[in-house]
Amino acid sequence: MRFPEAFLLGAATAAHQVEGNNKNSDYWAQELLPHSSFVEPSGVACGHYTRYAEDIRLLAHAGLNAYRFSVEWARIEPEEGKFDEKEIEHYRDVIRCCKENGVEPVITLMHFTSPVWLIRKGGWEAESTVEDFRRYAAFVAEKLGDEVKIICTINEANMGLQLAAIARRFQLMAEQAQKKAASAEGSVQVGMNFQKMMENMRFAAAENAGVFGTPQPQIFVSSRTPAGDALVMRAHMAAKAAVKALHPEIKVGLTLSLHDLQPLSGGEAAAKKAWDEEFTHYLPYIQNDDFLGVQNYTRTLMGPEGQLPPPEGAELTQMDYEFYPEALANVLRRVHRDFQGDLIVTENGVATPDDTRRADFIRRALKGVEDCIADGLPVKGYFHWSLLDNFEWQKGYAMTFGLVAVDRTTLERTPKESLRVLGAMR
Ligand code: BGC
Repeated sequence: MRFPEAFLLGAATAAHQVEGNNKNSDYWAQELLPHSSFVEPSGVACGHYTRYAEDIRLLAHAGLNAYRFSVEWARIEPEEGKFDEKEIEHYRDVIRCCKENGVEPVITLMHFTSPVWLIRKGGWEAESTVEDFRRYAAFVAEKLGDEVKIICTINEANMGLQLAAIARRFQLMAEQAQKKAASAEGSVQVGMNFQKMMENMRFAAAENAGVFGTPQPQIFVSSRTPAGDALVMRAHMAAKAAVKALHPEIKVGLTLSLHDLQPLSGGEAAAKKAWDEEFTHYLPYIQNDDFLGVQNYTRTLMGPEGQLPPPEGAELTQMDYEFYPEALANVLRRVHRDFQGDLIVTENGVATPDDTRRADFIRRALKGVEDCIADGLPVKGYFHWSLLDNFEWQKGYAMTFGLVAVDRTTLERTPKESLRVLGAMR
């Protein structure tokens, strides 16, 4: 399998997950709360802030020609309205390093983490965030716009709605568990666990209030209301307009987390509803974008009541979802029916301790991409998640998504066979 010269074949990371010491961000603050829901804090992460050159060289030497990474808002604007030129210079160095190695830099302006001050103002449900994000995007475009050709405004702009759906499912489960606990005589354990959970939630609320001035901070990865969802879209459009005003030649788009929703008999309506929420209702906001960033990891089977568990006996990844690389091509085809612009796979990957499974995943996923291109789909790039074993948010460092292993004590890098497999495809 060989992709054409112009095809962007690369790997992706996000600032907070790899750089380390992202101290002015909302995530950093939440990780350090005594009743944090993170299994561990991000700390030094992969030390990528200082080791980026080594990482970019590894990617380039393997044969890859593109690197997607995010610039960190909390570093660039640590206090409202105060921009840090030193941090912009840092990212300029990263971009230059890419170019020296024949690697196309693709930057993301917001990959989940926000500055603490933004969250104190109401975060991703506050109207003021549209203008704050626009101003930040304009600053980055002014400073770095000469150096980049592709910008993703917001990573997985639909994440908040997906979380709202999961939160609703959890709420339902908790209510059922509580009823069971009340009726199940002598079954103290359930009640105790439930109580502890509630206690933790209360503590977390007070701790959050201390840091963010509100018990329920609206970080980007919080359950989103429909109004907040529309606000995220307006923030994207404002940022896009700001970039285009300075650099009309830059290709601008956002990325979405998209599942390959497969209805079983009777699940068609639920699948359609989920797809509308995950994708179709965003079309009015994004249909004139230069590209759409497609992020896919697995399929989801749908029954009449909604999401079903993976099929009996299915191979599961460390994240507990199904190993199913064919999902990517299905999603690309589905999206292309309604979105006519270019498609870039901005994330696709698998958390597994067994790198031979990752190599298999890559071969199968990219076979799907190759078939899509042969059928005329405008797929312009593929970025594997992730370049490095990194900080998988609340699940910490145990999830290994990387093409390159990172020793947690020495931070030493060890390229895996899967990096070679991907790099050999061009
Ligand atoms: C996110 C990444 C994350 C990856 C694997 C995507 O949702 O953009 O930040 O690490 O999935 O879970």
